[in-house]
Amino acid sequence: MSEAFTMGSDATSPDPEPCDAIEVSSVSHAAAATARPLSLRVSAIDMVAQTIRMVELVSPDSAPLPSFTAGAHINLKLPGDLNRSYSLTNGPTTQDRFTIAVNRDAASRGGSAYIAEKLKVGDVLVVDPPHNTFPLVEEAELSAFFAGGIGITPILAMIRRLEQLGKSWKLFYAARNRASAAFVSELEALEAQSPGRVHFHFDEEAGRVMPLLKLAATVPKLAHLYCCGPAKMIQVFKASCGWRPQDNVHVEHFAGTNARPTTAFTVVLKRQGKEFHVPAGESIMQVLMDNGVAVAHSCREGVCGTCETRVLEGVPDHKDNVLSQRERDSNSLILTCCSGAKSDRLVLDI
Ligand code: FES
Repeated sequence: MSEAFTMGSDATSPDPEPCDAIEVSSVSHAAAATARPLSLRVSAIDMVAQTIRMVELVSPDSAPLPSFTAGAHINLKLPGDLNRSYSLTNGPTTQDRFTIAVNRDAASRGGSAYIAEKLKVGDVLVVDPPHNTFPLVEEAELSAFFAGGIGITPILAMIRRLEQLGKSWKLFYAARNRASAAFVSELEALEAQSPGRVHFHFDEEAGRVMPLLKLAATVPKLAHLYCCGPAKMIQVFKASCGWRPQDNVHVEHFAGTNARPTTAFTVVLKRQGKEFHVPAGESIMQVLMDNGVAVAHSCREGVCGTCETRVLEGVPDHKDNVLSQRERDSNSLILTCCSGAKSDRLVLDI
């Protein structure tokens, strides 16, 4: 099982959303982390639920945008030196724009509040190119999605892609009530086309949370399952999938674990020919930045994947919510914002 994080709420929100990224190539991650930022114009803003704003971004000079795949997210640079990541809701037929949906988080540290209250059509934002740590396995015979609240955003992109491919899918979408659920009309239209695929659950109507354990048990063993929603939902989802092939289970997180490495080590930047001491409890990223080494970053808590870096020698001490178990076990990748080293030296491809 691999893990990433979903956006649509502040990445630092206390109630974020998850998804496991599987078979993520380090090449594509590195390319995304070093790609040049774009300046994009806000071309449309619409309310798609009571507190959720959909924002469409286009190239001001109509230049083509970088291509992306279902499940990808973009990082927005917002005023106040804020970096916030949001999942793209676009389907594959609309790659001339980036469309995100942002929930006005009551506990916002500034990102979703700015987008909800200040962002307007015509504004220009600096945006990192799309980065996918929650990819869709397009060849799966059946895909089953479990979404909570704003966690519907990457999943909507996946559903749109599967519709294009003519593949089978099911959606279990939980929200507090109908007014707080996003994209309901589109999902109802998909359900009308082929009944039995979309299952809404509104907590206030049902008087309880979605019975995820029971619902997940109805999904065939060889299906690929995806979950994006609040932390508790992800926890239950993971518990419900223990018996499945773990490569078929995908979650995306909104927040990090807050765990930090507890031992000191030396980080070596092979290409730059530099090395630094990383004290216990300190992040590699912070040490590098303190020493004038630029490091691509966004969430700084191990959920967005932006800082993913190749490990050339040594054993990482993983503390992120991005890498799959297989990627962790390979000792070939590290998220420098939160992870450390179990070995005395860690040689990175920087
Ligand atoms: S995982 Fe987001 S900056 Fe490191």
